Amino acid sequence: MTKQVLAVVILAAGLGTRMKSTRPKVMHPLAGRPMISHLLATVASLDPDRVVVVTGPDMPDLAVALTRAPIPVTTVVQQERRGTGHAVATARAVAAGADDVLVLLGDVPLVGRESLARLIAARRAAPEVAVAVLGMRPVDPTGYGRLLTGADGMLERIVEELDASPAERQIGLCNAGLMAIDGRRLWALLAQLQPDNAKGELYLTDIIQAARAAGLVCRAVEGTSADELIGINSRVELAQAEGFLQARLRAAAMRDGATLLDPDSVYFSHDTRLGRDVEIGQNVVFGPGVTIADGAQVRPFCHLEGVSVASGAVIGPFARLRPGTVVAEGARIGNFVETKNAAIAAGAKVNHLSYVGDASVGAGANVGAGTITCNYDGFDKARTEIGAGAFIGSNSSLIAPVKIGAGAFVAAGSVVTEDVAPDSLAVARGTQAEKPGWAAAFRARKAAEKAARKARKTKQG
Ligand code: UD1
Ligand code: MG
Repeated sequence: MTKQVLAVVILAAGLGTRMKSTRPKVMHPLAGRPMISHLLATVASLDPDRVVVVTGPDMPDLAVALTRAPIPVTTVVQQERRGTGHAVATARAVAAGADDVLVLLGDVPLVGRESLARLIAARRAAPEVAVAVLGMRPVDPTGYGRLLTGADGMLERIVEELDASPAERQIGLCNAGLMAIDGRRLWALLAQLQPDNAKGELYLTDIIQAARAAGLVCRAVEGTSADELIGINSRVELAQAEGFLQARLRAAAMRDGATLLDPDSVYFSHDTRLGRDVEIGQNVVFGPGVTIADGAQVRPFCHLEGVSVASGAVIGPFARLRPGTVVAEGARIGNFVETKNAAIAAGAKVNHLSYVGDASVGAGANVGAGTITCNYDGFDKARTEIGAGAFIGSNSSLIAPVKIGAGAFVAAGSVVTEDVAPDSLAVARGTQAEKPGWAAAFRARKAAEKAARKARKTKQG
């Protein structure tokens, strides 16, 4: 059998009016990446022959996101948004000739590979099946089109909520919006669409009626779960989708051997990688690009982004690790510590109240409480290098560029502007002077003055 050519058409031209946003709807992020990127990752796993994304005019951010897609993507621009049916027709020049056309919606981004595979299989099950539609039974069907099936289980029609009768609105089987369509029949079916509906648009959903009128078969197949088929039209649905996705990511992390002390309070990025026996405390947020190796611990209330943590390291509680932070084996980052573009070598400790940016901290070094690397002069960034085994006393400012040699000591409260040689002590603060008995004499003088004033007042009064 010759391979069936599969074209995927993703509709993403809508303005997302209900989002009340200046950003194209499909560019709103879920777990740290745009909706459209989630969908493209799933599409790539299907290994399609062609992928077309229908965008609107003036969507530069979306165009950039598409250049980073994991598969080659052709973009077509739908100049006027005349409905989902019109949007598919816009893709004709690229999708024509394919055996099957899989139509996906950019605002249904969490659909899994399995549901899409079922949909394609339903279309290919028999040559007379012109359209297979993905159905779902959400807890609240409000806003979705409803699937009207005949006595024989065949799909007869899809009715949009706005056009539905009260009886039709009682139907629980909803249109997830995704379809696999016979590529030889699709374009003729689209040509029959009319804007005779509540929105005055050319609805893709109306091809079902057109296909039935032509004596063709349409089928509905249910997806694996309604959660993954949520359509995102508003911020409330965006938050719901984020919730479903986070639940999925938490479950995956635990399945892979990480302990989450309070899973519902941990927020993952789509690409967070946790090793085995990693322990994540309550209220931890992962931005994109974080890897935590086996056996490392992230204690409660930490925020990490663009960070790699090696095994046995302990982070937090209350730490903020920013992009470019690399924490080596067994190192410790404690409370109220911020790091950025910083390499913390094995066994080093930055335990309290510090900022370590554009810096390296050598193996086993101890950075005392309140140490600040002064890396920025308002124009340029400069580096601080702390050697292995060095000891930085509390409340020191290291004015970059500066190097603290291996094994050196910096006295507490120092403002270090010059390099410190290995194994030496740098003291960069005012020398302490002491005047014996000064405080007692001062108090006695002040007390005498106060008593004299009081005596004068009583005499006058
Ligand atoms: C659509 C379906 C509805 C289904 C729901 C599932 C239609 C007519 N309705 O409704 O049955 O239950 O999805 O979530 O298909 N788009 C374009 N160009 C256009 C119009 C839309 O590219 O001219 C894109 C949008 O960017 C969006 C997608 O198509 O990504 C769906 O459009 P949307 O307006 O969200 O349709 P729904 O009202 O959600
Ligand atoms: Mg929608």
